[in-house]
Amino acid sequence: MVIELAKDIYSGPGPYKVNSRGILLDPQRLLDAHPSRLDRRLLEGLHHQSVVTVDALSRRSVLELSRFAAQLELTEVSAHHPLDGKLVITAFFEASTRTRLSFEAAVLRLDGKVVSVQDGRMTGVAKGESLADIGEMFNTYGDLVIMRHTDTDAMDRIRRNLQLPLINAGNGTGEHPTQALTDWYTLLKWRPALATPALAETDRVDLGVVGTPMSMRAVKSFLRLGLTFRHALRSVTVVSEMADPFGAELRDELESHGIDVRVVHDIKESLPSFDVIYMNSIALLGGSYRQMDSRFKLHAKSPLKPGAVILHPLARREELDRGLDETPHNLYFAQAASAVFIRQALLICLLGRLDRIPTRS
Ligand code: CP
Repeated sequence: MVIELAKDIYSGPGPYKVNSRGILLDPQRLLDAHPSRLDRRLLEGLHHQSVVTVDALSRRSVLELSRFAAQLELTEVSAHHPLDGKLVITAFFEASTRTRLSFEAAVLRLDGKVVSVQDGRMTGVAKGESLADIGEMFNTYGDLVIMRHTDTDAMDRIRRNLQLPLINAGNGTGEHPTQALTDWYTLLKWRPALATPALAETDRVDLGVVGTPMSMRAVKSFLRLGLTFRHALRSVTVVSEMADPFGAELRDELESHGIDVRVVHDIKESLPSFDVIYMNSIALLGGSYRQMDSRFKLHAKSPLKPGAVILHPLARREELDRGLDETPHNLYFAQAASAVFIRQALLICLLGRLDRIPTRS
């Protein structure tokens, strides 16, 4: 069973601002490269699911959500009030700019409602309340919970009583699955062929990761979701100051999927070989942020391959020089802008509102 948005509303360009600097991505290219109608059965299968790790996402679901997001990017759907009557709880027990605000923008632009814990310290936690009890309360307050927490086991704790779908917006050094979804949506818009399983060797990309997957949840989720796109990766190299930036579990997982991961300590030497650079140089360690060594800084004069693109989930510090913002290597602003649409696609599916999206008859 397939759906396609009705032609009268599918007229692009969409109603929202896209990023103004760096690479401007055209969602139409993704739709042209993968032109079949959306798989309604697959997207409907996400109704009432939780997304706590990237294990909830298959290659097929990433592609279908990405194609749905691309249609939303080109389409004015708010007049159809897709999330009318739905109330989303955003509960942030750790700071955020992009994740909370892009989720809330996604909901509000679809005519849903949001109640927000912007600072978890202002909840009953200050009086010793448990996350399990907070989950019990959420059951009667909303329809879906988006939570971020400094503790890796926080998702398990709230799920003891929570019966609503839960989206993990980042849990300590655990995962950040919707950041990974955003990252892969961005890459698929940049190079739509990456979703093609029979990709020619010459079309595959050499991926360089600057960071510590073991303690950086965005990198970890990006790489774990990347396993479903392993056909698109010619090589994966991690640039780190650490001897083992993976930890045994993640390394075993990558290697058991046939990905040969290399660790290097010199960014200048390996940089010219990368097609895609994923940076995330702020690691959460012991409840506070630690910045990577200044040797791993990227700037406009770094020896980047022509055509190479940089992803960064942000927030950034000195590791990603602002001089790169004006260059064609800057995919990170497009990445941040893509978050609203892929999160809209996910929310429409999790909340069972695909039927509100007008389809071609
Ligand atoms: N990408 C990301 O998680 O950013 P925030 O910390 O601002 O939400």
